Amino acid sequence: MDSLFIKGPCRLSGEVTISSSKNAALPILAGVLLCKNKVSFDTLPGLRDINTINSLLSEMGVKISKEGNLTHYEAPDNVTTEASYELVKKMRASILVLGPLLSRFKKAKVSLPGGCAIGTRPIDIHLQGLEQMGAQIKVEKGYVEAETSGLVGAKVSLPFPSVGATENLVMAAVFAKGETTIENAAKEPEIVDLCDFLSASFSQLEISGAGTDKIVINGITGENISHTYTVIPDRIEAATFLIAGLITRSNIKVLNCNPTHIESVTKPLEEMGAKLVIGENFIEVQGEESNLVSTDIETAPYPAFPTDVQAQFLSLLTSINEKSVVTESIFENRFMHVPELNRMGADIKLQGRTAIIKGGKPLTGAPVMCTDLRASAALVLAGLTASGETRVQRVYHIDRGYESIDKKFQGLGANIERVNEPME
Ligand code: EPZ
Repeated sequence: MDSLFIKGPCRLSGEVTISSSKNAALPILAGVLLCKNKVSFDTLPGLRDINTINSLLSEMGVKISKEGNLTHYEAPDNVTTEASYELVKKMRASILVLGPLLSRFKKAKVSLPGGCAIGTRPIDIHLQGLEQMGAQIKVEKGYVEAETSGLVGAKVSLPFPSVGATENLVMAAVFAKGETTIENAAKEPEIVDLCDFLSASFSQLEISGAGTDKIVINGITGENISHTYTVIPDRIEAATFLIAGLITRSNIKVLNCNPTHIESVTKPLEEMGAKLVIGENFIEVQGEESNLVSTDIETAPYPAFPTDVQAQFLSLLTSINEKSVVTESIFENRFMHVPELNRMGADIKLQGRTAIIKGGKPLTGAPVMCTDLRASAALVLAGLTASGETRVQRVYHIDRGYESIDKKFQGLGANIERVNEPME
């Protein structure tokens, strides 16, 4: 089991290149199940979650092959329609195979994803929408078993703009008969990327409203065309590195990002006094020149402040000599980085879904434990600014969503080493 050893405080410099988006690639790869003919990708990120969904897809019979920097996928007619507990338990996004399996194969048996560290994460919104489209669904013995004589387009209004439910329903609508309307749909850039991938795969497919709260899909029949798709850059990784530049008061340049995807992060950062130079596909952080004052944030669905950047932002707030309040409105248990930050000398109090930060006291290095992906990133950021050695344990959490995070920070001049440690 790997740990990261960080010797802080670190000053960073230079450039870092952002990888493709985990949260765009995962639904798109689930959508490969709709594609009988080969589809290829040129920039899939090297992440544990990508390996996990590839294992799941190949276990189901999807043909996956590599050719240089291309990865080819093909889902023949004899794909099995069952996703086992062994693989689904490793990554709850596996539930995204439900919509495409039902749409193309008219049946699916997928293990319930179960909760995770940050919350119970039910899938009731997914299932209600699929039932409205003509699926018969039963949930028993830890599995979702669904079948249909053929999905039919429906007008589905989501009680909450669930990202995963929107993605499952968009994919279910592809071969559904007639028009599907998803109201109160999630508006994340990853939804737009999924719709762009599906439109590129099925020339007759008409999808309108991607990125808005109303998506309309006219179902089709027929096979996909072969093409090569480029997944969008990871906006959460980009935001993480912006914050790394600020928390270490360094000047760094974040390359291969789409600044329009993270305006809900760059705007509060600029209001706090962060000096940013925003280009078309890069953002320069001038941390040395930034005199930061704190701000309060509340997470909410896109385009509001993203819950996936809350932990990293909270680490930054501990480095500012003021009081601030962070409210997490999406997940019920997404403050597991707080006790670990307090062990590094931070002064953060929790009241339900609110964290009150009294910043300014310099952090000191300590052994800390990863619990979930973004909390772990927050601990790395804290380690970069803390004085002394921080040992970040259970780095596999980070490797789920950050490609070679140690190498990327080494490239920026950080004193960070990955060490393989025996299981405790
Ligand atoms: C996606 O999760 C992301 N994961 C999450 O990123 C992200 O935090 C989340 O969207 C919110 O932006 C992927 O894209 C793979 P939701 P998802 O359905 O689809 C409740 C990361 O760190 N809900 O929008 O699971 C749910 O409990 C991960 O990269 C229901 O109640 O998010 C939660 O409170 C973490 N019923 C809220 O909605 C449902 O049927 C948001 O969930 C579905 C969701």
